[in-house]
Amino acid sequence: MAETTRTATLTIDGQSYELPIHAPSAGPDVIDITKLYGTAGVFTHDPGFTSTSACESKITFIDGDKGELLHRGYPIDQLAEKSHYLEVCYLLLYGSLPTAAELEHFEHTITHHTMIHEQMHNFFRGFRRDAHPMATMVGVVGAMSAFYHDSTDINDERQREIASHRLIAKMPTIAAMAYKYSIGQPFVYPRNDLDYASNFLRMCFAVPAQEYVVDPILSRAMDRIFTLHADHEQNASTSTVRLASSSGANPFACIAAGIACLWGPAHGGANQACLEMLKEIGSPNRIPEFIERAKDKNDPFRLMGFGHRVYKNFDPRATVMKQSADEVLDLLGIDNNPLLRIAKELEQIAVNDEYFIEKKLFPNVDFYSGIILEAMGFPTAMFTPIFAVSRTVGWISQWKEQLADPAMKIGRPRQLYTGETARDYVEIENR
Ligand code: CMC
Repeated sequence: MAETTRTATLTIDGQSYELPIHAPSAGPDVIDITKLYGTAGVFTHDPGFTSTSACESKITFIDGDKGELLHRGYPIDQLAEKSHYLEVCYLLLYGSLPTAAELEHFEHTITHHTMIHEQMHNFFRGFRRDAHPMATMVGVVGAMSAFYHDSTDINDERQREIASHRLIAKMPTIAAMAYKYSIGQPFVYPRNDLDYASNFLRMCFAVPAQEYVVDPILSRAMDRIFTLHADHEQNASTSTVRLASSSGANPFACIAAGIACLWGPAHGGANQACLEMLKEIGSPNRIPEFIERAKDKNDPFRLMGFGHRVYKNFDPRATVMKQSADEVLDLLGIDNNPLLRIAKELEQIAVNDEYFIEKKLFPNVDFYSGIILEAMGFPTAMFTPIFAVSRTVGWISQWKEQLADPAMKIGRPRQLYTGETARDYVEIENR
């Protein structure tokens, strides 16, 4: 529990209430209002939770002004450069970097749980032939609770761990199968001699008619995309997972809820929306028109891949992702890709524009990830499923942390009601 250092005094109609202030290990102090309704009979109001801490967590810390992202204290740029996705998964799940033996054991466990129950293949076949892979993933991951009953008891610590491993291991297989199904190609089974990222690339791009040899450069870029998206503290999809889990729902149902939330264009769907926007812009001379639209209050259009609720200086993930985009495109020999030209010009124009400077709108991680994924051969519909694969460990780590928290309660926000007060029912003939 965080230390309580001071109190804040709230005065309502001359009556004062003392509210404890908790000191975090990093970040702003937090005023504890849990007893406020009981003592003062009032609620607080904060749509979008812009000033509300909903839980205590030790997993990820973001300083939006400094552009800092730490997982268990380690900066994301160091993890992206020196570590790899499965090691970061271990770090997020268990709280410390693994020893060589711990890592080997963890990697072995994940690798040997990548296959999905064979009957689940039939479940895929129930979807329309051209279903969006995210739609399929929401359904299939939710259905895992029907296939893996033996790891749905949230009160059993060992079952919780097995569910965590299953989700991390099987999510790339499910995403790749959702993709294969959507393009009418046969499913490709995972292979135990490949690492996590290479396995995913092979499951997406191999066909029975031709062997697929994984390019180590692409595998490294894929692993980096997974690493950069692994967790991001209490974002919308993670909060959705926590809220779903607070009722005691099983882990597969909770992660399916997270996937559903992630799909929206303001969250994980932004990478697909960003690439579609670049295609719609089509040529650098149309950029000013789109910048003007983004600034127009009467136009709902926003520059996709720009802005962030927390980062108000720069998104540290975007800095690494930009380097990765340059490396991948260079190595693939596509450095004069027209979309990349538009992206680079758009970025330059936007970051020098008064509107974007004043509102602190900078390119976020999704601005560059789509460019890399397209260069690797992924269709836009796969961008958000890849985000979901990466974020699974974050969701699961936060879910695990919440279940072990003695302060956990069912999530139940209050409201500022502005509707009708009690009135008598009016018979239909009198309306
Ligand atoms: N283009 C143009 N104007 C924008 C944009 C944008 N991309 N983002 C914010 N603004 C304006 C917005 O209109 C508002 O103006 P005003 O103060 O005059 O009303 C101001 O900036 C603040 O925006 P907000 O919507 O109140 O900020 P928020 O913290 O609620 O939203 C956001 C954050 C990420 C949803 C938003 O910036 C956005 O919609 N960006 C585009 C979608 C996107 O790229 N999302 C990916 C986020 S990173 C990956 C992830 O976490 O999933």
